[in-house]
Order: sequence, then structure tokens, then C-alpha cells
Amino acid sequence: MGQYIDILKDKVVVITGTTSGIGKGMAKLFAEQGAKVVGSGRRESLGQQVAEEIRAAGGESIFVKTDASDPEQVKNLIDTAVNTYGRIDILVNNCAWEPTIMLKDLTWEDFRKVIDTNLGSYTMATVYALGYMIPQHYGRILNINSVTMEQIVPGVGVYSLAKAAIHNLTKTTALEYAKDGIRCNEICPGLILAGAFEKPEIREWAKDSIENGTPVPRLGTVEEIAYAALYLLSEHADFCNSASLFVDGGRRLI
Ligand SMILES: NC(=O)c1ccc[n+]([C@@H]2O[C@H](COP(=O)([O-])OP(=O)(O)OC[C@H]3O[C@@H](n4cnc5c(N)ncnc54)[C@H](OP(=O)(O)O)[C@@H]3O)[C@@H](O)[C@H]2O)c1
Repeated sequence: MGQYIDILKDKVVVITGTTSGIGKGMAKLFAEQGAKVVGSGRRESLGQQVAEEIRAAGGESIFVKTDASDPEQVKNLIDTAVNTYGRIDILVNNCAWEPTIMLKDLTWEDFRKVIDTNLGSYTMATVYALGYMIPQHYGRILNINSVTMEQIVPGVGVYSLAKAAIHNLTKTTALEYAKDGIRCNEICPGLILAGAFEKPEIREWAKDSIENGTPVPRLGTVEEIAYAALYLLSEHADFCNSASLFVDGGRRLI
């Protein structure tokens, strides 16, 4: 950890999707930095395990089983955070479903699932969090977006469509609530060693894209995203509002 100490001391942080990958990495780093972390996701045993690991390391965390595509469950997540810790300082929208589907094969069901999980959850978690953040005149909202919000890749069109809309959600939130003490920013990861890229066969399949499609020719790490998030949520980033921080090795340039 070096010189970074207690950057999020006593901040109450809600994160969607802490059962694996980037969400899990952020939960652990933020707890190390003094935050009270409210994790969530559908896979309860994995989520409880992450919360338990945080507590075993001396941090504070609970897990709330949540299917984020259901607004009632998202509301329950935000309300539970406030009922448990008295407030919500930070919301990190992170959960996503990334199917590989060419546009011609897209079904209404898959379209709805991507929109509800990726865009609906970010939107409604923001709405419910604002209900608490505006009266307390403080809030930080961070949306985990993707380089695909502007870089189109065949087969991930519907995911990109939701990510492009999240970019506008970030801007709307940043514009409408800055005077209420709220900031909203986004991180746009490139290819990261998380999610699908944890599978060796996917890494092999994407080898050329990783080595020739990214100026920094490797996968990024969960830690590199978590530290970027830590900066945007720290007081050092108080003047950042609607920032899009690309952590992509320059991938969007190719
Ligand atoms: N890995 C990359 O290369 C990459 C690149 C660009 C952007 N990103 C973005 O980074 C974020 C995290 O992805 P990741 O790479 O860490 O993938 P991951 O390991 O698959 O994590 C996805 C998380 O989302 C949660 N989730 C999915 N559907 C959900 C639902 N209906 N309700 C609640 N939680 C749900 C999952 O939890 P449960 O399954 O337990 O519900 C899991 O915790 C996503 O927004 C993704 O778009 C990743």
C-alpha cells in the first residue's frame, strides 16, 4: 500500500457486483483504505466470502444479495446500506453482463437483460442513492464504463450500446447535482484480467487483439482499475466531475 493510508476513512461505499473481478478488487482496496463496504451481487456465497475476507483483515463490510436488474432489489441494497451504516457516501456502479451476440442474432430477451442489468441498474442505483446524497449534501458516484462505449467491436454491440448510454448518465448526474455536493465520474477500462479474460482460452483467442490492438501490449490488472477508482473517489479529485478516465493502455486510439 505504500503511502496511501485511510483515503476513504469511514466512507460508506456501495458497490454493485463484488462477487468477482474488478468489483471484488475495489471492495478490498476501499476497505483497506478505511471504507465501510456494502457489496452486492447474485452469487451469495462468493459475495459473503469477500465480505468475510475484508472483516478478517480488520475492515468493515457486509454483503447484500442483489439481482441488480430488478429495481426493487437495487432499492433494497441502497436502503440496507443506509440502515446499517447511517448514510451512503459513495456509489460505485460496476455490475455488467457482456454477452457476445451479433446484432442479427439479438433476441428481445437478451436485449432487455443487457439493458436492465447494465444500464437499468446504474440508473436506478443512482436515483435511489441521490435520494440520500442530496439531503446530506455529499456524494460520489463512479460508473465503471468501458472503452467499448466509443470503440465498436463486432459481437458486443448491445453491451456497447448500454455503455454509451452510461456515458450520458454520467454527464447528466454530474451536471444536475454538482451544486448538491455530488460528483459523478466514470472509468473506461480496456481489456482487463477479470471477467471473461480470466479464462485461458479467451486470453488465447484474444492474443492478437491484446498484443497488436493495444499500444501497451498486455491486459490491464484489477488493481490498476481499483487504484484509478480510489483516486476518483478521493478528496484529491473533488474538481473532477464527468471525467472519463480511460485505463486501457491506449486501446481506444487503435
Ligand atoms: N474485464 C474487462 O476486460 C472489462 C473491460 C471493460 C469494462 N469492464 C467492466 O468492468 C465491470 C466489472 O466487470 P469484470 O470484468 O470485473 O467482470 P466479472 O468478474 O464478470 O464481474 C461482473 C460482476 O457483475 C455482477 N453482476 C452481473 N450481473 C448481475 C446482476 N444481474 N445483478 C447483480 N450483479 C450482477 C457479477 O455478480 P453475480 O454474478 O454474483 O451477480 C459480478 O460481481 C463491468 O462493468 C464491465 O463492463 C470490464
